[in-house]
Amino acid sequence: MDQLQKIDKKKLPRHIAIIMDGNGRWAKQKEEERIFGHHEGVKSVKDVVEGCAELGVQYLTLYAFSTENWNRPKEEVDGLMELLVRTIHAETPTLSKNNIRLQAIGDLESLPNNCNKELQEAIRNTSGNTNMTLVLALSYSSRWEIGQAAKNIALQVQRGLLTATEVNEKTVTDHLGTGMLGIPDPELLIRTSGERRVSNFLLWQIAYAEFYFTDTLWPEFRKPDLYSAILDYQSRERRFGLTSEQISSSK
Ligand code: IPE
Ligand code: IPE
Ligand code: MG
Repeated sequence: MDQLQKIDKKKLPRHIAIIMDGNGRWAKQKEEERIFGHHEGVKSVKDVVEGCAELGVQYLTLYAFSTENWNRPKEEVDGLMELLVRTIHAETPTLSKNNIRLQAIGDLESLPNNCNKELQEAIRNTSGNTNMTLVLALSYSSRWEIGQAAKNIALQVQRGLLTATEVNEKTVTDHLGTGMLGIPDPELLIRTSGERRVSNFLLWQIAYAEFYFTDTLWPEFRKPDLYSAILDYQSRERRFGLTSEQISSSK
Protein backbone atom coordinates (compact mmCIF):
# COMPACT_ATOMS: atom_id res chain seq x y z
CA MET A 1 0.00 0.00 0.00
CA ASP A 2 1.47 3.37 -0.86
CA GLN A 3 1.57 6.35 1.47
CA LEU A 4 -1.50 7.99 -0.03
CA GLN A 5 -3.70 4.93 0.49
CA LYS A 6 -2.64 4.69 4.13
CA ILE A 7 -3.99 8.16 4.93
CA ASP A 8 -7.22 8.09 6.92
CA LYS A 9 -9.40 10.63 5.12
CA LYS A 10 -11.63 10.93 8.18
CA LYS A 11 -8.72 12.09 10.36
CA LEU A 12 -7.16 14.71 8.15
CA PRO A 13 -5.82 17.87 9.72
CA ARG A 14 -8.31 20.58 8.80
CA HIS A 15 -5.50 23.14 8.62
CA ILE A 16 -1.84 22.51 7.70
CA ALA A 17 0.75 25.28 8.09
CA ILE A 18 4.17 25.06 6.45
CA ILE A 19 7.44 26.90 7.06
CA MET A 20 8.93 26.44 3.60
CA ASP A 21 12.66 26.56 4.32
CA GLY A 22 15.87 25.59 2.54
CA ASN A 23 15.59 27.23 -0.90
CA GLY A 24 18.93 29.01 -0.53
CA ARG A 25 20.81 25.91 0.62
CA TRP A 26 19.27 23.85 -2.17
CA ALA A 27 20.51 26.39 -4.74
CA LYS A 28 23.94 26.46 -3.14
CA GLN A 29 24.20 22.67 -3.44
CA LYS A 30 23.57 23.12 -7.15
CA GLU A 31 26.09 25.99 -7.31
CA GLU A 32 23.31 28.36 -8.33
CA GLU A 33 22.13 31.76 -7.06
CA ARG A 34 19.67 31.72 -4.13
CA ILE A 35 16.85 32.99 -6.36
CA PHE A 36 17.11 29.78 -8.40
CA GLY A 37 16.10 27.92 -5.24
CA HIS A 38 13.10 30.20 -4.75
CA HIS A 39 11.98 29.51 -8.33
CA GLU A 40 12.24 25.76 -7.76
CA GLY A 41 10.36 26.24 -4.48
CA VAL A 42 7.35 27.48 -6.45
CA LYS A 43 7.10 24.03 -8.06
CA SER A 44 6.88 22.51 -4.58
CA VAL A 45 4.19 25.03 -3.65
CA LYS A 46 2.12 24.00 -6.67
CA ASP A 47 2.52 20.29 -5.92
CA VAL A 48 1.69 20.62 -2.22
CA VAL A 49 -1.33 22.88 -2.85
CA GLU A 50 -2.63 20.33 -5.34
CA GLY A 51 -1.91 17.47 -2.91
CA CYS A 52 -3.80 19.16 -0.07
CA ALA A 53 -6.75 20.03 -2.29
CA GLU A 54 -6.98 16.47 -3.64
CA LEU A 55 -7.00 15.04 -0.12
CA GLY A 56 -9.60 17.44 1.23
CA VAL A 57 -7.49 19.54 3.57
CA GLN A 58 -9.54 22.70 4.12
CA TYR A 59 -6.84 25.26 4.93
CA LEU A 60 -3.19 25.42 3.92
CA THR A 61 -1.06 28.30 5.23
CA LEU A 62 2.35 28.86 3.65
CA TYR A 63 5.01 31.04 5.27
CA ALA A 64 6.31 32.74 2.13
CA PHE A 65 8.03 35.88 3.44
CA SER A 66 8.67 36.99 7.01
CA THR A 67 9.01 40.49 8.47
CA GLU A 68 12.63 39.58 9.19
CA ASN A 69 13.21 38.55 5.55
CA TRP A 70 13.07 42.27 4.57
CA ASN A 71 16.62 42.47 5.96
CA ARG A 72 18.03 40.11 3.32
CA PRO A 73 20.15 41.53 0.47
CA LYS A 74 18.08 43.87 -1.72
CA GLU A 75 18.67 41.74 -4.79
CA GLU A 76 17.09 38.70 -3.13
CA VAL A 77 14.14 40.67 -1.73
CA ASP A 78 13.46 42.25 -5.15
CA GLY A 79 13.74 38.86 -6.81
CA LEU A 80 11.30 37.31 -4.33
CA MET A 81 8.74 40.11 -4.81
CA GLU A 82 8.97 39.77 -8.58
CA LEU A 83 8.55 36.00 -8.30
CA LEU A 84 5.54 36.53 -6.08
CA VAL A 85 3.82 38.87 -8.54
CA ARG A 86 4.51 36.55 -11.48
CA THR A 87 3.43 33.42 -9.64
CA ILE A 88 0.18 34.90 -8.35
CA HIS A 89 -0.61 36.21 -11.83
CA ALA A 90 0.17 32.92 -13.55
CA GLU A 91 -1.46 30.61 -11.00
CA THR A 92 -4.75 32.35 -10.20
CA PRO A 93 -6.57 30.61 -13.09
CA THR A 94 -5.36 27.21 -11.80
CA LEU A 95 -6.54 28.09 -8.30
CA SER A 96 -9.97 28.88 -9.70
CA LYS A 97 -10.02 25.76 -11.84
CA ASN A 98 -9.40 23.74 -8.67
CA ASN A 99 -11.96 25.79 -6.73
CA ILE A 100 -9.30 27.14 -4.32
CA ARG A 101 -9.70 30.46 -2.54
CA LEU A 102 -6.64 32.62 -1.90
CA GLN A 103 -6.19 34.60 1.31
CA ALA A 104 -3.23 36.40 2.89
CA ILE A 105 -2.05 37.36 6.36
CA GLY A 106 0.71 39.77 7.33
CA ASP A 107 1.58 43.42 6.83
CA LEU A 108 0.36 43.49 3.23
CA GLU A 109 0.59 47.29 3.05
CA SER A 110 4.35 47.00 3.29
CA LEU A 111 4.56 44.95 0.08
CA PRO A 112 5.48 46.79 -3.13
CA ASN A 113 2.36 48.34 -4.71
CA ASN A 114 2.23 46.06 -7.74
CA CYS A 115 2.60 43.06 -5.49
CA ASN A 116 -0.21 44.00 -3.13
CA LYS A 117 -2.40 44.92 -6.12
CA GLU A 118 -1.86 41.55 -7.81
CA LEU A 119 -2.52 39.80 -4.51
CA GLN A 120 -5.74 41.71 -3.80
CA GLU A 121 -6.97 41.00 -7.31
CA ALA A 122 -6.29 37.26 -6.91
CA ILE A 123 -8.03 37.27 -3.51
CA ARG A 124 -11.05 38.98 -5.08
CA ASN A 125 -11.12 36.70 -8.12
CA THR A 126 -11.02 33.53 -6.05
CA SER A 127 -13.26 34.67 -3.19
CA GLY A 128 -16.18 32.48 -4.26
CA ASN A 129 -14.15 29.24 -4.37
CA THR A 130 -15.06 26.64 -1.78
CA ASN A 131 -12.85 23.55 -2.08
CA MET A 132 -9.86 24.79 -0.05
CA THR A 133 -8.42 28.03 1.32
CA LEU A 134 -4.77 28.76 0.55
CA VAL A 135 -3.36 31.37 2.94
CA LEU A 136 -0.09 33.12 2.11
CA ALA A 137 1.80 34.61 5.06
CA LEU A 138 3.54 37.62 3.53
CA SER A 139 5.57 40.22 5.34
CA TYR A 140 4.30 38.20 8.28
CA SER A 141 5.54 37.81 11.80
CA SER A 142 3.53 36.53 14.69
CA ARG A 143 4.67 39.20 17.11
CA TRP A 144 3.67 41.90 14.62
CA GLU A 145 0.25 40.22 14.26
CA ILE A 146 -0.27 39.94 18.04
CA GLY A 147 0.82 43.58 18.46
CA GLN A 148 -1.73 44.66 15.84
CA ALA A 149 -4.44 42.65 17.60
CA ALA A 150 -3.58 44.31 20.94
CA LYS A 151 -3.73 47.76 19.34
CA ASN A 152 -7.08 47.08 17.65
CA ILE A 153 -8.61 45.70 20.85
CA ALA A 154 -7.41 48.78 22.74
CA LEU A 155 -8.97 51.01 20.08
CA GLN A 156 -12.30 49.22 20.47
CA VAL A 157 -12.18 49.75 24.23
CA GLN A 158 -11.28 53.42 23.71
CA ARG A 159 -14.27 53.83 21.36
CA GLY A 160 -16.58 52.18 23.90
CA LEU A 161 -17.37 49.20 21.67
CA LEU A 162 -15.91 46.79 24.22
CA THR A 163 -15.11 46.98 27.93
CA ALA A 164 -11.64 46.03 29.20
CA THR A 165 -13.10 43.26 31.39
CA GLU A 166 -14.74 41.65 28.36
CA VAL A 167 -11.35 41.03 26.71
CA ASN A 168 -10.52 37.31 26.79
CA GLU A 169 -8.79 34.59 24.76
CA LYS A 170 -11.45 34.66 22.08
CA THR A 171 -11.10 38.44 21.66
CA VAL A 172 -7.39 38.00 20.94
CA THR A 173 -8.00 35.06 18.57
CA ASP A 174 -10.64 37.02 16.67
CA HIS A 175 -8.35 40.05 16.20
CA LEU A 176 -5.45 38.13 14.67
CA GLY A 177 -5.08 38.08 10.88
CA THR A 178 -6.25 34.47 10.89
CA GLY A 179 -9.19 35.14 13.21
CA MET A 180 -10.40 38.07 11.12
CA LEU A 181 -10.54 35.73 8.11
CA GLY A 182 -12.21 32.92 10.07
CA ILE A 183 -9.21 30.60 9.70
CA PRO A 184 -9.05 27.92 12.43
CA ASP A 185 -5.83 26.97 14.27
CA PRO A 186 -3.53 24.58 12.39
CA GLU A 187 -3.44 21.01 13.69
CA LEU A 188 -0.19 20.27 11.85
CA LEU A 189 2.87 22.49 11.43
CA ILE A 190 5.55 21.33 8.97
CA ARG A 191 9.06 22.80 8.70
CA THR A 192 11.47 21.68 6.02
CA SER A 193 15.29 21.90 5.78
CA GLY A 194 16.24 20.42 9.15
CA GLU A 195 15.76 23.58 11.23
CA ARG A 196 13.80 23.03 14.41
CA ARG A 197 12.45 26.45 15.21
CA VAL A 198 9.27 28.44 14.69
CA SER A 199 10.83 31.70 13.40
CA ASN A 200 7.99 33.98 14.51
CA PHE A 201 5.22 32.01 12.76
CA LEU A 202 1.67 31.67 14.14
CA LEU A 203 2.84 31.63 17.78
CA TRP A 204 -0.65 31.98 19.22
CA GLN A 205 -2.35 29.68 16.72
CA ILE A 206 0.03 26.69 17.14
CA ALA A 207 -0.68 26.31 20.86
CA TYR A 208 -1.82 22.70 20.30
CA ALA A 209 -0.42 21.95 16.84
CA GLU A 210 1.62 18.81 16.14
CA PHE A 211 5.09 19.65 14.78
CA TYR A 212 6.66 17.75 11.90
CA PHE A 213 10.28 18.47 11.02
CA THR A 214 12.02 17.05 7.97
CA ASP A 215 15.55 17.44 6.62
CA THR A 216 14.19 17.67 3.07
CA LEU A 217 14.87 21.09 1.56
CA TRP A 218 11.73 22.90 0.38
CA PRO A 219 12.49 22.66 -3.38
CA GLU A 220 12.54 18.87 -2.98
CA PHE A 221 9.41 18.63 -0.84
CA ARG A 222 6.60 17.15 -2.94
CA LYS A 223 3.31 15.24 -2.48
CA PRO A 224 4.95 12.05 -1.08
CA ASP A 225 6.62 14.17 1.64
CA LEU A 226 3.27 15.77 2.42
CA TYR A 227 1.70 12.31 2.76
CA SER A 228 4.51 11.23 5.14
CA ALA A 229 3.87 14.27 7.31
CA ILE A 230 0.13 13.59 7.44
CA LEU A 231 0.69 9.90 8.27
CA ASP A 232 3.05 10.87 11.07
CA TYR A 233 0.41 13.29 12.37
CA GLN A 234 -2.23 10.55 12.24
CA SER A 235 -0.03 8.22 14.28
CA ARG A 236 0.04 10.60 17.24
CA GLU A 237 -2.31 10.82 20.18
CA ARG A 238 -3.45 14.41 20.71
CA ARG A 239 -4.24 14.70 24.40
CA PHE A 240 -4.97 18.40 24.98
CA GLY A 241 -3.87 18.12 28.60
CA LEU A 242 -5.94 15.01 29.35
CA THR A 243 -4.65 11.53 30.18
CA SER A 244 -4.35 8.83 27.58
CA GLU A 245 -7.10 6.83 29.38
CA GLN A 246 -9.49 9.76 29.19
CA ILE A 247 -8.85 10.04 25.47
CA SER A 248 -9.50 6.34 24.78
CA SER A 249 -12.66 6.21 26.91
CA SER A 250 -14.18 9.20 25.09
CA LYS A 251 -13.70 7.50 21.69
C1 IPE B 1 12.95 29.81 2.48
O1 IPE B 1 14.23 29.46 2.04
C2 IPE B 1 12.32 30.90 1.66
C3 IPE B 1 12.26 32.21 2.32
C4 IPE B 1 12.61 32.44 3.56
C5 IPE B 1 11.79 33.32 1.54
P1 IPE B 1 15.50 30.27 2.50
O2 IPE B 1 15.73 31.37 1.51
O3 IPE B 1 15.39 30.68 3.90
O4 IPE B 1 16.64 29.17 2.31
P2 IPE B 1 17.84 28.87 3.30
O5 IPE B 1 17.28 28.69 4.67
O6 IPE B 1 18.77 30.03 3.20
O7 IPE B 1 18.43 27.60 2.76
C1 IPE C 1 11.32 31.42 7.88
O1 IPE C 1 12.48 31.04 7.23
C2 IPE C 1 10.53 32.33 7.00
C3 IPE C 1 9.97 31.73 5.80
C4 IPE C 1 10.00 30.46 5.50
C5 IPE C 1 9.32 32.65 4.91
P1 IPE C 1 13.86 31.78 7.51
O2 IPE C 1 14.89 31.09 6.71
O3 IPE C 1 13.69 33.24 7.27
O4 IPE C 1 14.05 31.54 9.08
P2 IPE C 1 15.36 31.53 9.97
O5 IPE C 1 16.09 32.79 9.65
O6 IPE C 1 16.15 30.32 9.57
O7 IPE C 1 14.87 31.44 11.36
MG1 MG D 1 15.89 29.77 5.66
